[in-house]
Amino acid sequence: SPSRHESPRVNITASKVEQTRINSTRTAKPPGVSFNTSEVERIRKWVLKYFNPDTDLTINKSQVKLGKLMRYEASRSRRANITENFLRLIPESSPLLGRHFRSCAVVGNSGILLGSRCGPQIDSADFVFRCNLPDLEGFEKDVGTKSNFTTMNPSVLPHEYKGYAKDSSVQEIFVRRLRLIHDQILHIPAFVSVSGRKDVEFTNRMILKHRLPIKLSYAPRHTSKRMQKLWNDSEFQPKRPSTGNILFALAACLCDQIHLYGFYPFAKDEKGRKIEYHYYGDVRNHRKHNMTEEYRAFQRLHQRKALVLHTEPCD
Ligand code: CDP
Repeated sequence: SPSRHESPRVNITASKVEQTRINSTRTAKPPGVSFNTSEVERIRKWVLKYFNPDTDLTINKSQVKLGKLMRYEASRSRRANITENFLRLIPESSPLLGRHFRSCAVVGNSGILLGSRCGPQIDSADFVFRCNLPDLEGFEKDVGTKSNFTTMNPSVLPHEYKGYAKDSSVQEIFVRRLRLIHDQILHIPAFVSVSGRKDVEFTNRMILKHRLPIKLSYAPRHTSKRMQKLWNDSEFQPKRPSTGNILFALAACLCDQIHLYGFYPFAKDEKGRKIEYHYYGDVRNHRKHNMTEEYRAFQRLHQRKALVLHTEPCD
């Protein structure tokens, strides 16, 4: 039904302003791409066997209570309890429950996006996914600003907001970044490693203190395992599912047309130009994922028209 779609309803009496917006949205659309709907459907069914966003995306209120000791995926014996702040932010149910979108952009963080001018095209998607609270300010032309679903590994705080625990100016920068999510979704894999616990607590505290309208989603501890099983039931073997990989699976369940941007794990582009690992900030070592294998999988899915993998500049 149309209400399940995010696309703007075209009104024949649309005002001039609205008409301009509709037209500019059209011109920002990627030219000449097509999707094979039966491939899209096949991929969706495959993913749904292992990952159902309605139940597997986030823990919800009915599953926890104050003081409950939570287990962590990578910290076998250690547990941590559900605090009051946590309880206030854990959603009643998945913030994506019953949602369905026509077109989605899933934005990875590869430096291939630098100079791409893909921002308007990315923002023209009905729903935009982003990984790890990436920088947007200063990169708008290349990556856009629309962010409907943003993930954040807790390690983003110690890596990219160094000294945040004590330095109020760093805290301000972090809160300023969180504000760019507006009232959309922030997804935190909060039960992977217990060492990230303080970072999650801090994030929760900032959201409550500044009354940010963000909707929270906290991945349950078995997400990586699910992704591993999903890929084991395929011709590909990514070593350890990356964030982009998880977002691909989520988008496959929710979107008819998936566009991937910023997925390019190589040091050079096809013309031999150097490509940074991330389009922003410091380069870090990410050999934990087998991204080449992940890229190969996306290339195959692109060939089969199950999704569109964008690696070229946008105009
Ligand atoms: O959390 P994770 O380390 O997996 O991701 P990230 O470095 O923040 O980047 C987000 C996602 O973009 C990755 O999970 C990959 O799927 C994709 N990516 C890529 O394909 N090529 C790169 N050079 C960097 C990231």
